[in-house]
Amino acid sequence: MEPVTTLRTPFIAGNWKMNLDHLQSIAFVQKLAWALKDAQHDYSAVEVAVFPPFTDLRSVQTLVSADKLELGYGAQDLSQHDSGAYTGEISGAFLAKLECSYVIIGHSERRTLHDETDEVVAAKTAAALRHGIVPVVCVGETAEDLEKHGASAVPVAQLTRVLESVPADAEIVVAYEPVWAIGSGQAATPEQAETVCAALRDTLRPALGEEFASRTRILYGGSVKAANIASFMRQANVDGALVGGASLDVDEFSSIARFQKHVGI
Ligand code: PGA
Repeated sequence: MEPVTTLRTPFIAGNWKMNLDHLQSIAFVQKLAWALKDAQHDYSAVEVAVFPPFTDLRSVQTLVSADKLELGYGAQDLSQHDSGAYTGEISGAFLAKLECSYVIIGHSERRTLHDETDEVVAAKTAAALRHGIVPVVCVGETAEDLEKHGASAVPVAQLTRVLESVPADAEIVVAYEPVWAIGSGQAATPEQAETVCAALRDTLRPALGEEFASRTRILYGGSVKAANIASFMRQANVDGALVGGASLDVDEFSSIARFQKHVGI
């Protein structure tokens, strides 16, 4: 197996989806920070971030800044527009003011439930970059795509479309999330994840150049938990995880973040 490159700091990201109100978010982030501190977590070795609902972000920002926490945070979506008559939308400018480092873009739930096309995902990615926020661009195939086209074709096509609006020196994070693995308890195998993540890195090369492609972190997402994270992190092209359900349990999520301490990694 290739040695895990030191160019890319592993990244464990917790997508809370529509869970935890702003009061719950404060209690949760405090507990998570304590759990990681107790475990002497080294954030420079494994970056950890949470993605709460919009209404929690100001509370999380205040807590992180008051307690000087090393925990990162970001939003779950943003508007492709910067301001104007877009009722209910949230501008990247507002997220930047809340010191969000990241924003998830094109999650499969947005693509399916809100009809977000590859064009919209590309425009949102450009909006994030305009405001200095690192986009976590989600791609992934449905069970039907998998059967018809194999695992890599759809995620590669989705990423290719987004890369058209990404400058070659931009920092982005890519999250490979097979739709059939999200919330199903049926994760991809580590080998499946590695095959697609390697294909995604190959897709980054012509767009971003060799150096940026090898610096870009590619996460796996879909039924990640403490019991399977180490097997994904052993793969050469998997640089972290986007965690849904298991990110809502402090002990489970902090254990995922401490995957380097698991036996056998
Ligand atoms: P899951 O969700 O970990 O609950 O499968 C992952 C995601 O949707 O990002």
